[in-house]
Amino acid sequence: MVNLPQNAKALYDYLRQALSQSHDPDCADLDARLILEKRAGVTYIDLLTQSSATLSDAQLEHIQSDLALRLKGMPIAKIYGEKEFWGRAFAVSEDVLDPRPDTESIIEAVLKWYKANAAHYASRPLRLLDIGTGSGCIVITLLKEIAEAEAVAVDYSWPALMVARQNAARHDVVNRLSFVQGDYISAFGHDSFDLIVTNPPYIPHADITNLSESVKNYDPILALDGGIDGLDPYKKIFISIKNNLRPNGRLFLECGFDQIEAINRIGINLGTNLERIIYDLGGHARGGEFSCGDK
Ligand SMILES: C[S@@+](CC[C@H](N)C(=O)[O-])C[C@H]1O[C@@H](n2cnc3c(N)ncnc32)[C@H](O)[C@@H]1O
Repeated sequence: MVNLPQNAKALYDYLRQALSQSHDPDCADLDARLILEKRAGVTYIDLLTQSSATLSDAQLEHIQSDLALRLKGMPIAKIYGEKEFWGRAFAVSEDVLDPRPDTESIIEAVLKWYKANAAHYASRPLRLLDIGTGSGCIVITLLKEIAEAEAVAVDYSWPALMVARQNAARHDVVNRLSFVQGDYISAFGHDSFDLIVTNPPYIPHADITNLSESVKNYDPILALDGGIDGLDPYKKIFISIKNNLRPNGRLFLECGFDQIEAINRIGINLGTNLERIIYDLGGHARGGEFSCGDK
């Protein structure tokens, strides 16, 4: 076993260097900080201010084994079973996609829309549907931010729904959230919602093999594979969106950086309007806000 430095600052430098050889070298600094915080309670501020802090042998053993897993490609979130999203911690497992920072752009767009339309929901709760809920990070965040809302979360994967339920309990929204196992929107007939959100699997099938090891080996394939062109889920969702979106309602979706125009074409043919393109922090088109026009 490698002798890790016992001094926290020296260990941080060692981890950063070792992790720069991992499958995700861009995450080396953040990963080193997360490992130290999780296993030794040493925060980044501690690292900057208490250069003499030392770690126990037991802590170093844990860190050694975390480092080995990370170098094999396992994401930090999967090692610790937890990922932060919109400032809250969400349990994750092999059955769910780790929540991504990009998806926070969708939350931001929904909350902006809600703020401008809150008056519609002064006398009744907003009704929300999250399609492909995974860890539940989108729907649970929205329920926390929109105190009066009620929601349904659907996923094809039963184990994913169990993780989402665990997160709903953790964030105290179980009384406003119900779960359905089903194929996208097909379970809902003419049941209607004010707001539908979705971050479906949208990677074109042939591109899966080119994904990084930490994605293709650790995120479930059901959360990634969107069929031949990556657009299968959008086709299935748009086909009945008019039945499921209430007047003045909105569909917010996440997509790949080059997909919004093709998705808009699917939507136009089925009578929807692209109200707004949603951009991520890098300026890429990563989602859209859709309405059903005059409905
Ligand atoms: C990209 S992940 C998104 C998870 C979560 N909403 C998030 O943003 O982190 C897509 C989710 O869609 C689910 N899914 C895949 N096929 C589905 C289907 N036919 N019907 C419903 N959900 C499906 C997957 O199980 C997965 O949880």
